[in-house]
Amino acid sequence: MKNRSLVSITDYSKEEIRHVLKKIEQFEKNPNQRLLEGKVVATLFFEPSTRTRLSFETAVNRLGGRVIGFSDASTSSSVKGETLKDTIIMVSNYADLIVMRHYLDGAARYASEVCSVPIINAGDGSNQHPSQTMLDLYSIFKTQGRINDIEIAMVGDLKYGRTVHSLLMALSHFNPVFHFIAPEELDMPASYKTFCQKSGIRFHEHRDFSEDVINQSDILYMTRVQKERFSDLMDYERVKNVYTLRNKMLENSKPNLRVLHPLPRVTEIAYDVDSNPKAYYFQQAKNGLYTRQAIMCLALGIEN
Ligand code: CP
Repeated sequence: MKNRSLVSITDYSKEEIRHVLKKIEQFEKNPNQRLLEGKVVATLFFEPSTRTRLSFETAVNRLGGRVIGFSDASTSSSVKGETLKDTIIMVSNYADLIVMRHYLDGAARYASEVCSVPIINAGDGSNQHPSQTMLDLYSIFKTQGRINDIEIAMVGDLKYGRTVHSLLMALSHFNPVFHFIAPEELDMPASYKTFCQKSGIRFHEHRDFSEDVINQSDILYMTRVQKERFSDLMDYERVKNVYTLRNKMLENSKPNLRVLHPLPRVTEIAYDVDSNPKAYYFQQAKNGLYTRQAIMCLALGIEN
């Protein structure tokens, strides 16, 4: 895994996913080490972010490295018409590693092909968000004691939600059962369902967000309807409040059920869920720090 970009979660094999999970566990025990001393990491965010950018930057700081970059592309020369290719080539002159979020599907793959240093995809359009997936898998492992044989309900925007696309691909190695809960307009894309069918992965599709499905699940993975991906805001208005998880809906859920959400949330999880011990989304986001420490060190070939 030396000097390797992480563009899609499929860049990791099943064995590598297990290896990364072990590394994350080690970083959680000891997040303050000087492993990135002398290294410069660039964080280029062409789309807004709170958790991903700040956890990557905290991860670098806690490992003794330095951060350059931008959180708002309108302050960069991209507004003058500089291409993504030129931007990436320039930044790779300065940094040892580039973490990039971009609004276009495939932008991270393209960047990795023109770049002389590793690229970590921090989310590209509605395509992939592999570092989120590793923190999701770590959260599943911590709360369930395993990542095999998980029954998981994915709820909300399965069309544009890059986190569910990445998570589906990662869990496909580990004998999952999926419940896809979405309105027709936000269905899981056909390519992912075809992949499941061809791979013998069990999945069920639902329009109703019912307690029956919640009660048989180990993980309830809620997602936000991705307003920024709609070309017609009237379409967004029709589905924006399609499902809301309320505390009373968890009354008969399994003792091991945990509610995950990549965050930010809008209306899909009511605030009364936050105090339920099964709500795990804030701890999940905290796991992002250790996860990103592990991913960056592995990308740079640095052992902890
Ligand atoms: N989960 C996630 O990607 O959050 P941010 O958009 O705040 O980075």
